Amino acid sequence: MSKLTFTARTISDIAKAKTQCAIVPVYGSQLSSAAQALDSASSGSLDTALKLGDFKGKAGQTLMLPGVGGAARVLLLGCGEQAKFDQKAARETLQGLNSALGASSANEALFHIADLNSATVTPDWLLELLSRSLVSSSYRYSATVTKPKDPLALNKLVVNPGDTLAVKAAQLALDTGAAVGRGINYTRELGNLPGNICTPSYLASEARKLARGNSKVRTQVLEEKKMRELGMGALLSVSAGSDEPAKLIVIEYKGGKSGDAPQLLVGKGITFDSGGISLKPGAKMDEMKYDMCGAAGVLGTLQAVIEMALPLNVTCIIAAAENMPSGRATKPGDVITSMAGKTIEVLNTDAEGRLVLCDALSYAKRFKPAAVVDLATLTGACVIALGSHASAVYANNEELAANLLAAGETSHDRGWRMPLWDDYRKQLKSNFADLANIGGPEGGSVTAACFLSQFAEDYPWAHLDIAGSAWNSSPKGATGRPVAMLARYLQDRAAEQGTSGRGGQKKATPRKAAPRKAAAKASS
Ligand code: BES
Ligand code: MN
Ligand code: ZN
Repeated sequence: MSKLTFTARTISDIAKAKTQCAIVPVYGSQLSSAAQALDSASSGSLDTALKLGDFKGKAGQTLMLPGVGGAARVLLLGCGEQAKFDQKAARETLQGLNSALGASSANEALFHIADLNSATVTPDWLLELLSRSLVSSSYRYSATVTKPKDPLALNKLVVNPGDTLAVKAAQLALDTGAAVGRGINYTRELGNLPGNICTPSYLASEARKLARGNSKVRTQVLEEKKMRELGMGALLSVSAGSDEPAKLIVIEYKGGKSGDAPQLLVGKGITFDSGGISLKPGAKMDEMKYDMCGAAGVLGTLQAVIEMALPLNVTCIIAAAENMPSGRATKPGDVITSMAGKTIEVLNTDAEGRLVLCDALSYAKRFKPAAVVDLATLTGACVIALGSHASAVYANNEELAANLLAAGETSHDRGWRMPLWDDYRKQLKSNFADLANIGGPEGGSVTAACFLSQFAEDYPWAHLDIAGSAWNSSPKGATGRPVAMLARYLQDRAAEQGTSGRGGQKKATPRKAAPRKAAAKASS
């Protein structure tokens, strides 16, 4: 967990303010007001540095200078041309800032953001991204290494909003972004932990931890015996070959009114996917420890929701199991019965995610959810279709889809809509059961979603295939996606409730997607 703290504070005398590092924006060759203040206090030292021509003020370019006035160092932060300061330029700028702070030994810094805004970059959006990305860049994996990387030296960032934003609003934005950043890091940590540590039981104990000492959060863990009573034959068929017992984890966060229908998140929690009897090839099989990133994304999102204390009811269901071959494992050709009563022919035991999820989706019904969003590293086909940049978004409800896509744009944790047409259903036909668990080589991510859709007909439902977005292959590591998208989605639902006084997907006014590149296009 990061020790990084963020404080919004108005600074009137910029040149005198004591800090280890004053961060001042520079638009191309144009100094921001804060940069000018330091320049005048040092008889033009910033201008002299600019004239050398090494630093061109491009978005993300930085130059560390020796101190001026009360500042031990001055960091010139390139923002690109002011007229072109859009969300993309803002992201690049913050990336540059994060690497400069990462390379510095300053453990405190003072960022003057006054001139950092434009038509498409509002100061609260910027501050949320600032704290989120800085917290996220402070993440180091250390659980199973004896000599972990050096931690980020910085532990305190003070932000001077000038007159762009009230101190209180600035603090709220910083706290919100930091909460989401910590949720992202928690998700990354769980995704990075090896399968011999992060087992279904481990996920259950993490879920219990989230509830500890918080009266608004309740965790319940259903054991295999209970799942058998409920008829969860699909989920149990996946853990059949493993010595690790499956867990169905339910976490309820009651931040809203008691009658409000909850937003429901469902996560695929396969803590290791060997493929089962349909064993995967050896190459990169180690990466299948990240097959619980849906579950990790649910836990990270909920941690952020709890920290933000969103006035919303959120229920989480995690279907946790390990997919292993053994004498007791499910075999290709076996027919199982799901909780919904539908029989499934398991043609490939490596298509296990949909099997654990279909029972979780049936169980979801009893919570009378406003909407259900499931997250799953479901198919290799999704990685082929979209690569790592977008999570695939499937939905049986237009408004829910639009809300998720908009949240993805705002947070730059993007999704891309995929089809759920009935035409795909015939690929899942079986001669020996109601449906087969695989749909052949064509449209693998779509047929997987199509399988799930048949268990999610009773509520607005969306499925995010995060097989590509949740993991980086070089360097290897979990990305923490789609926590930023989902946190934003839930923040938006909370804001909507605040204004309309009622929750639920149906009555919601769709949120406009953030304008994209509008500024850049208009000015070029
Ligand atoms: N967990 C995998 C999907 C996966 C593959 C995620 C690569 C991330 C990277 C899933 O359980 C799986 O094995 N799916 C099969 C389905 C197939 C047998 C129809 C796949 O994608 O190959
Ligand atoms: Mn699999
Ligand atoms: Zn899997």
